Amino acid sequence: MRVRPSKRSCFYANQAGLPPAATMYNLFGFARKKPSSGRIDGEGVYLRPAVMGDFEPWRRLRGASRAFLTPWEPTWPPDDLTRPAFQRRILRHDDERARDEAYSFLIFRAADDALLGGITLGNLRRGVAQCGTLGYWMGENHAGQGFMAKAARALLRHAFVDMRLHRVEAACAPNNERSRRLLERLGFQREGYARAYLLIDGAWQDHLLFAMLESDFLREESSSSDLASQFRQ
Ligand SMILES: CC(C)(COP(=O)(O)OP(=O)(O)OC[C@H]1O[C@@H](n2cnc3c(N)ncnc32)[C@H](O)[C@@H]1OP(=O)(O)O)[C@@H](O)C(=O)NCCC(=O)NCCS
Repeated sequence: MRVRPSKRSCFYANQAGLPPAATMYNLFGFARKKPSSGRIDGEGVYLRPAVMGDFEPWRRLRGASRAFLTPWEPTWPPDDLTRPAFQRRILRHDDERARDEAYSFLIFRAADDALLGGITLGNLRRGVAQCGTLGYWMGENHAGQGFMAKAARALLRHAFVDMRLHRVEAACAPNNERSRRLLERLGFQREGYARAYLLIDGAWQDHLLFAMLESDFLREESSSSDLASQFRQ
């Protein structure tokens, strides 16, 4: 049986056999807003892309947090904490940003501009996916104080409201309690389990797969603003 496309389908063809112009425009992501390349403000924190002037605080924070971070990250190259490697990192991030492939930020405390950690919205897929992947790290002495939840909320708002993404994914190792709690707290839904998913700390490790849809985010935002208004009353 031949199935005729419904007029409501986004693949509905006009007489020339092409999808309507507006649909094509949306399908390939041209209607999506490009993200700003600058600072994003959150509650008590702000995010901005790294610049060379961040090298010393970044090196000190990552160096002091090495044992805390390395079990959960790809193996650090031997020169990772050197100035040339940091410069290459910045160039790569700038290039990814210009190509709309990934957006990497450092996280700062608003009160005193202290560097706290980093967060990335990477692996961007536009077109019919409109999806990105969240990754993050926090300096050991700043962890467990709610800063990452605030930074992630600010980036998620930017992803769904300004960049008009439809879905943000994240993954964490099953034994990474802090990361799993963070994702659940943010309102991510657990969707699956991927075997030998990422090469972390030198080994292919299983991961729990999480995702947040734009509709999940809007629900989270409205329930937290309901809560805030109850407190104000
Ligand atoms: C995962 C990580 C980014 C979380 O950052 P953070 O600043 O500690 O997160 P927050 O303080 O915003 O806390 C988020 C949740 O984790 C919980 N948490 C914090 N410390 C915890 C701990 N020691 N054990 C269990 N949960 C913990 C918090 O209580 C909070 O959950 P709650 O709101 O339900 O109480 C940080 O711990 C980190 O960098 N870990 C090492 C690297 C890493 O795991 N990277 C991610 C790989 S997927």
